[in-house]
Amino acid sequence: MIKKIPTTAVPLSIFEIAKGFRSFLSQKRYIGEFEKNFARYMGSEHAFAFNSCTTSIYIFLKALKRLSNKLEVVIPAYTVPTLVLPILKAGLKPRLCESSLDTFNMDFDYLADVVNDNTLCVLPIYHFGFPYNIDIPLRLASEKNFFTLEDAAQAPGATLNGQKVGTLGDAGCFSLCRGKNFSTVSGGMLITDSDELATIIREERDRLPRQNLTFKLTIPLILTVYSLVTRPFNYGLFYRLIAPFKHNTIHESFDAIQYSDFQASIGIDLLKKLDKFNEIRRTKGMALYEALKGNEQILLPKITENSTPVFNHLPLVFKEVKSMEWVQQELWKRGIDTGRMYRKPVHHLYDLGYDREKELFPNALSIAEKLITVPTHPYLDDESIEKIIDVFKRLDT
Ligand SMILES: Cc1ncc(COP(=O)(O)O)c(C=O)c1O
Repeated sequence: MIKKIPTTAVPLSIFEIAKGFRSFLSQKRYIGEFEKNFARYMGSEHAFAFNSCTTSIYIFLKALKRLSNKLEVVIPAYTVPTLVLPILKAGLKPRLCESSLDTFNMDFDYLADVVNDNTLCVLPIYHFGFPYNIDIPLRLASEKNFFTLEDAAQAPGATLNGQKVGTLGDAGCFSLCRGKNFSTVSGGMLITDSDELATIIREERDRLPRQNLTFKLTIPLILTVYSLVTRPFNYGLFYRLIAPFKHNTIHESFDAIQYSDFQASIGIDLLKKLDKFNEIRRTKGMALYEALKGNEQILLPKITENSTPVFNHLPLVFKEVKSMEWVQQELWKRGIDTGRMYRKPVHHLYDLGYDREKELFPNALSIAEKLITVPTHPYLDDESIEKIIDVFKRLDT
């Protein structure tokens, strides 16, 4: 079978990419328009675009440092490992909180023991696009006087009780990198309602270097390749060439620079389609979720009442590594690729002063070792959904 369903994809036509070249031909600044539209879409006062979500976190933390001399930033022990980089670059200290086997996010039952008088900020993260209740960090934040930054990198457009996630705390951040619900190859957005924070963020952002010409010229090329290779026929045909680019290496640093008008001009059009794409993901994701939810061999993330998840992926945690490997192989044989996000918890990859001999975060370790992601993007067809369901039925018998 040549056709293979990739782990991630955002349908984007060559025509839409070509439209981005309007930014090279006009004096118009597309970044400002994209920021305005994004803020309006989210229902927030201010939005700032960056070259990545990592940079947006870094700038937010730098802004906080101008308001407070506290030094610790709390993230879950199971997450995107490179989240430690913006914290360290801002001269701050990452502190880890145990993860939850119910949500695969930070377990807030442990948070009161992690925060202290030196806590500057807590980052609740909506892994895989599933909103969950962040009342506990918000309450602790007002009691202990720290900030909250909702990391909604994987959850643009997801809502909780009718409100978009990313607007519930002091600020929210979003990623526009490959693999997200809408992508301009790279990019990040930071939103806030606070005029005070916005003034500092704007100042810090304006000091960042602009993208150089080589980078500006490579972006359209990467976007074109990404758009083409994530189409199932091409993905199957060119898989051997694509595979080496799929494995995430652990970065030791990142570039903090500005976003580009080329990407912003594409982002403006993509944002208009975000709700439609999210709806498609939700329909496919829920069809899988409903079919797999009774399976004894796996854990699925809890879907919070009154929330609309946006299914960046469907994550599954297996009870046994052997079953996980079997499912991955069987799905691949049927033309469906799966992902292994963050195979180790953060403190196993970066030395943050935690004793690696004593396992302090067993849930995070278990999630890292036994989680796969199943695609839910618009290229996942009904036939493939049936095949996925069938493989899991065989696992359960
Ligand atoms: C939850 C989360 N936070 C932050 C990031 C960093 O995003 P970026 O790659 O745009 O810097 C990612 C990217 O994968 C992410 O998934």
